[in-house]
Amino acid sequence: MTQDDVYNETCGTEPMRYLATKPVMIVTTRHASGIVNAGVFGAYTNLSPTQVGVAVSAGGHTYANIIRSGEFVINVPGADLVKALAVIADKIPETRSEVEEAGLTIKDGIAVETPSIAECQAAVEFVFDRELPIGHHNFVIGKVVGGWIRRAVLDDDGRINIFKARVMKDFKYPKPLYVLPGEVIEG
Ligand SMILES: Cc1cc2nc3c(=O)[nH]c(=O)nc-3n(C[C@H](O)[C@H](O)[C@H](O)COP(=O)(O)O)c2cc1C
Repeated sequence: MTQDDVYNETCGTEPMRYLATKPVMIVTTRHASGIVNAGVFGAYTNLSPTQVGVAVSAGGHTYANIIRSGEFVINVPGADLVKALAVIADKIPETRSEVEEAGLTIKDGIAVETPSIAECQAAVEFVFDRELPIGHHNFVIGKVVGGWIRRAVLDDDGRINIFKARVMKDFKYPKPLYVLPGEVIEG
């Protein structure tokens, strides 16, 4: 099987559809050395059809890298990566990559220089737009420029199938407990 059979890669705004339900996600950025940094984030939201805002700790590597490089990638993990989240959320020095420490693989960026995590279900690429300081966090706003999704979890409407992708949402942070998508009701 080639990479083309596994991933659907796109430039533009379409990949915003891969963030349905805003599951817990992994932000990848690059250190100045080129080493790929990763952090776990739950506090984010869609702001427009092309913009996402993420509450990013002002003292962390993710924030410094976004401001320096002007880009970041939101990776959507499936439940198979639940154990990896604890490793990725750990404070690891800049000389090492959380992605490697977690036993995961990097995948080249499509519309940005920043790589994504190949084992995730989807990844959405952003360029830095603006920020708003709020307490110990900065609300970092990005504009979507590309991304990819595993073909196996892509619905006919271009959105991620959250049941097949088995996306998770944290609900007891900092305890490592997550919920999976459950019932659907029609309103
Ligand atoms: C489930 C979960 C959700 C988290 N959500 C956030 C968040 O929304 N914002 C934040 O700044 N840190 C959040 N964290 C903590 C970061 O993952 C952690 O501080 C990490 O070390 C940041 O990495 P960095 O130093 O590479 O930026 C979360 C951690 C977990 C496990």
